[in-house]
Amino acid sequence: MAIRKVLTYPDPFLRQVAEPVTRFGESLDALIRDMAETMWDEPGIGLAAPQVGVGLRLFVYDMEVSGDPAKVRVVCNPEFTLMEGSQVDEEGCLSVPGFTADVKRAARVVMRGQDRAGKPVELDVAGLHARLLQHETDHLDGKLFIDHISALKRGILKRRLRKAQAAQAPA
Ligand code: NI
Repeated sequence: MAIRKVLTYPDPFLRQVAEPVTRFGESLDALIRDMAETMWDEPGIGLAAPQVGVGLRLFVYDMEVSGDPAKVRVVCNPEFTLMEGSQVDEEGCLSVPGFTADVKRAARVVMRGQDRAGKPVELDVAGLHARLLQHETDHLDGKLFIDHISALKRGILKRRLRKAQAAQAPA
């Protein structure tokens, strides 16, 4: 197991559309173990493969941040078959460190996908769980939560990034 580097905004890899997972087995299991380790290390409640530089349609999550491999949930090739209602709550992302904003999401979703072995899974969830599935699926389509916020808030984030970069640049 290994902790992988989490790419951060504005890394262009985070903007790519990921490819479907077609090969299940040992190397996918190893990637999933690394992603779980990386998620707990940060710590975060979810992590999508593109965040560690792997362009595949899968994500892991553990809303309890349990550190228990038996509690890691994995969804490969997710698709929403229902999205209804709306909820607004604060969101953050390991790829946008130090920044949070209110984001509007569907209140309830039904998602179909595959587990780590390629078996079909279906989730029918609401609240934070539904929010997490929408946030992580966005990553697979090259989207970040900051794409859902106002231009004003995004401007604040960009100014903050420029200041941070200026502080790091050699004199
Ligand atoms: Ni994220």
